[in-house]
Amino acid sequence: MDASNAVTYAGYLQLDRILGAQAPLSPDDLGPQVRAAEHFFIVVHQAFELWFKQELLDLELARAALARDEPELEVALDHLSRVTAIHRLLIQQMVLFDHLPPHTFLAFRPYLGEASGAESAQFRVVEKVLGVRPRTSSPLYDVFARAIERRALSLEQLYQQPARAGALYRVAEALVDISETFWMLTAAHVRIAERTIGARAGTGGTSGVEYLAEALNHKAFPELWDVRTRL
Ligand code: HEM
Repeated sequence: MDASNAVTYAGYLQLDRILGAQAPLSPDDLGPQVRAAEHFFIVVHQAFELWFKQELLDLELARAALARDEPELEVALDHLSRVTAIHRLLIQQMVLFDHLPPHTFLAFRPYLGEASGAESAQFRVVEKVLGVRPRTSSPLYDVFARAIERRALSLEQLYQQPARAGALYRVAEALVDISETFWMLTAAHVRIAERTIGARAGTGGTSGVEYLAEALNHKAFPELWDVRTRL
């Protein structure tokens, strides 16, 4: 490879594109503190979107590994546990907004117009794969259910006889980890929204915190929560 097409750190990561993609809308005369707060707001949201992209990749590879005639359980576990690790990181990223003083947010908020996280296309796909919205079946849970069926195991048996179920038992618990951490992320979002905008309506036109809190009534993979009552 000659020097002109040698891989570089900045080139490989396309840093010029990523670092050039933060464009606060608030005017300079609101002062550097408000501009910095908006920059912070943009960076955190962009980081979320990057992690959603990785999460969707891992969810799909876990689904594909479970869908095989001979499911590749260890491969699925690697991907599922990475999704949980991403959720844990995202919860901490929500907590970052404790460092968004409400007066700075309110200063740049009018410039967001009606733009809202509610428009996140990737988040909607995550919800769909997890089966939380629409609350239909989850394609990921479906392949897991088929895998235990093929082993002639019921969910009760899987939980009562983990040694017989083997790695499938750990897959079930990895799904519970994902469900739990997704719920915790929702709770962190509700908390931060209340801390930042109180009872105001959302930029996307919903009632705000009250609307967001409704999502706490549902968890992904409810079958894996329900079975616990029956054990
Ligand atoms: C100061 C920080 C934040 C506040 C005050 C806030 C506030 C809100 C509010 C009020 C809504 C309801 C929809 C609306 O009317 O706009 C909403 C929805 C949403 N926000 Fe945030 N949010 C914050 C941070 C984030 C971050 C960092 C993300 C990550 C991408 C995010 C993603 C979403 C998503 C996906 C929805 C749609 C949720 C649903 O429909 O259940 N938000 N947000």
